[in-house]
Amino acid sequence: MKSRNPSVPLSENQHLLRWVQKMADLCKPAAIHWVDGSQEESDALSAQLVANGTFVKLNEKLWPGCYYARSDAGDVARVEDRTYICSLSKDTAGPTNNWVDPFQMRRKLKEIFAGCMQGRTMYVLPYSMGPVGSPISQIGVELTDSPYVVVNMRIMARVGLPVYREIDKAEKRVVPCIHSVGHPLKPGQKDVPWPCNPEKYIVHFPETREIWSFGSGYGGNALLGKKCFALRIASNMARDEGWMAEHMLILGVENPKGEKTYVAAAFPSACGKTNFAMLIPPAHFSQQGWKVWTVGDDIAWIKPDANGCLRAINPEAGFFGVAPGTSNTTNPNAMVSLAKNTIFTNVALTPEGGVWWEGMTDVPPAECTDWQGKKWTPAIAKETGAKAAHPNARFTAPASQCPTIDPDWENPEGVPISAFIFGGRRATTMPLVYQAFNWSAGVYTGATMGSEMTAAAAGTIGKVRRDPFAMLPFCGYNMGDYFRHWIKMPRNLTETPRIFHVNWFRKDKEGKFMWPGFSENMRVLKWITDRARGRALGRETPIGWQPRYEDLDWEGMDFPKERFDELQAFDREAWRAEVLGQEELFLDLHDHLPKELIYERQLLICRM
Ligand code: OXD
Ligand code: MN
Repeated sequence: MKSRNPSVPLSENQHLLRWVQKMADLCKPAAIHWVDGSQEESDALSAQLVANGTFVKLNEKLWPGCYYARSDAGDVARVEDRTYICSLSKDTAGPTNNWVDPFQMRRKLKEIFAGCMQGRTMYVLPYSMGPVGSPISQIGVELTDSPYVVVNMRIMARVGLPVYREIDKAEKRVVPCIHSVGHPLKPGQKDVPWPCNPEKYIVHFPETREIWSFGSGYGGNALLGKKCFALRIASNMARDEGWMAEHMLILGVENPKGEKTYVAAAFPSACGKTNFAMLIPPAHFSQQGWKVWTVGDDIAWIKPDANGCLRAINPEAGFFGVAPGTSNTTNPNAMVSLAKNTIFTNVALTPEGGVWWEGMTDVPPAECTDWQGKKWTPAIAKETGAKAAHPNARFTAPASQCPTIDPDWENPEGVPISAFIFGGRRATTMPLVYQAFNWSAGVYTGATMGSEMTAAAAGTIGKVRRDPFAMLPFCGYNMGDYFRHWIKMPRNLTETPRIFHVNWFRKDKEGKFMWPGFSENMRVLKWITDRARGRALGRETPIGWQPRYEDLDWEGMDFPKERFDELQAFDREAWRAEVLGQEELFLDLHDHLPKELIYERQLLICRM
């Protein structure tokens, strides 16, 4: 078969052709490659990455179609302090975002992007967030000098030829995204395995819907469809167009009658979103015919349909999951999803050409190479505390490989959403589950969400960080206006989803977790979905509706009533402190805060 010349454009869209040329004139790449999205192309790019030392091909028998990468030690996570929202006015970005005047930022970007791709190829990567052609989907084109980004994006989004066809129809506006690792090569200069630049800029221009990313090759900094487009830019589009771009998983609960109820849930990082999205019900539920179906594990785009019902799609096509802690015990469905055709970054490499990370197996390998390329053994770890995998090590796996992927996960119309769930990691105060009294009380619950900081930051253990709707690092405009958008949503709805708050992490006086979590969360999910359909009972408390002991299904679980009452207890003193803590965020946002939230706060205080 004659191979195609990748420098020949695959689109006839004049805006796209002109923009690609303009960016090439600025960045001065040695070549341009129009990505077609084929398997052959991805194989060739992966082989090129192996030759450059960026990728190691894993043992084909153990890990078919899988590759392994180690990043630069200074490029291991999203860089929130280098992430900018450059709206025309500072007020539009709000106090929770880094803002720089867009004219000043454009000057800076022109300077750093000038010649930044010298000696490299610029890939033209068209992608659709959401199924190609869905009325909820959006299109972006990422120009990148990183083949690692191209092969990762091919898993995380729909890319290539079908997307050019959408662009050529020119019915949808395309979001231009430019990305460079910021490491140009002089003639004859040898490349490094993980090119990047210590100076990083992750920049969003909300009004012109543009993304410019410089200096990082890692995750959300570089795979621009994910956080940059699907949350920061899309939250701006959603506000203007009456829909919602949320940091939420989507799952469907099927009952023994075959009736499915979909929920979308927002949790801050490190609170088990991927595990919850892939939950396996306890044996007694499964035997009765209960099933949980996965639609997405990180982002939801939600839009009212013609009947006023909210419908959601997962704009992504893959999982970019945290590897450490993922195992056959904590998340068997994730383990099957990542067993083939997956890219692993910053985990450990085993001598037989496999991967390992902390928590994957009870018994660690006798020896492996850690994420920085050093020898690692359990004895070394004991002595030095060295981790085999970086705590933010990731797998990039196709969502289609998930055993519980919902048959409707690519339905262009999306799935109907009956409930929203908010949650965080809270050792005290927050009960296992409650339902907000109504929509505006639910919005108050989302707006005041918090999660405890972990032991990593000394002195701050137990301190609650407010992370409204789990969107603090991802809302592309003023958080107060975002709350208003939520308050206004039901105006276009005939059916308003119910809103719930859960906490899997409450501890007893001895400091022990009171709830086992994982599969047992199904008991809570059953109450939530039954409540959303107006079926389950509960009792009224100052914070909302809570299930009584007899309202949950306890079959196959020994959980005494007294323990449940402790887990669900409304602790008046703790709530006093909570309400004062919530006020801090409201003070920051005071000039954009919707009055409904101030009233909700007053009502909560009165009920207490
Ligand atoms: C993610 C995050 O990577 O939220 O999904 O940081
Ligand atoms: Mn996320």
